Amino acid sequence: MKIAIVYHSVTGTTAQLAEAVAAGCRSVAAAEPQLLRIEGADIQQGRYKNSVMLEVIDQAEAVIFGSPTFMGSVSAQFKAFADATAGDYWVEQRWADKVVAGFTVGTGYCGDTLHCLHYLQILAAQHGMLWTGLDLAGAGDAKAPNRLGAQAGLIVRAVDGAIAAPDLETAFYLGQRVARIVSRLKPADITQY
Ligand SMILES: Cc1cc2nc3c(=O)[nH]c(=O)nc-3n(C[C@H](O)[C@H](O)[C@H](O)COP(=O)(O)O)c2cc1C
Repeated sequence: MKIAIVYHSVTGTTAQLAEAVAAGCRSVAAAEPQLLRIEGADIQQGRYKNSVMLEVIDQAEAVIFGSPTFMGSVSAQFKAFADATAGDYWVEQRWADKVVAGFTVGTGYCGDTLHCLHYLQILAAQHGMLWTGLDLAGAGDAKAPNRLGAQAGLIVRAVDGAIAAPDLETAFYLGQRVARIVSRLKPADITQY
């Protein structure tokens, strides 16, 4: 059960969350998270060129997108990756029905980070994927999981480049939740389209 965790990170906070998401996936039997980092070197003349990574995603049963919030949306590098998923992947809706989730980190308390998550949701919708958020009621407890109260996905506030323990816990939970959902979905016995 392969789960592709596709993320971009400059200073490492999104990467920390991606690692925690992967650990959460691993806590579910048979789940194999694949950490796929978007590298600037894979972008040439503004275009994302790593076709191998796109193929790995193609083979995965679920995908978890992660990007830092830059100027209220995904980073330019993440957007270059997203643009590379147009063409056949989009035209043929090859990723339709894959379970998908997302996470972002910013230095604000919440605010425009939600827009970044919304972008990830729209990207997922364009591919016909099945978005899952967090089934964790954020009750405003600063020490509890989902302390920022976003259920569309994981939103984290980084302070001086560090991710606080409750946020790493929530990232772990998001990975576990995606793996749990995928393991519950059995291939449908479809005889006619
Ligand atoms: C160009 C730029 C734009 C940013 N815009 C936002 C923003 O709109 N909202 C926010 O909360 N944080 C913003 N930040 C802060 C980053 O999201 C934050 O430092 C994040 O932890 C970086 O992720 P990384 O460590 O994975 O690179 C911005 C940072 C940079 C460099």
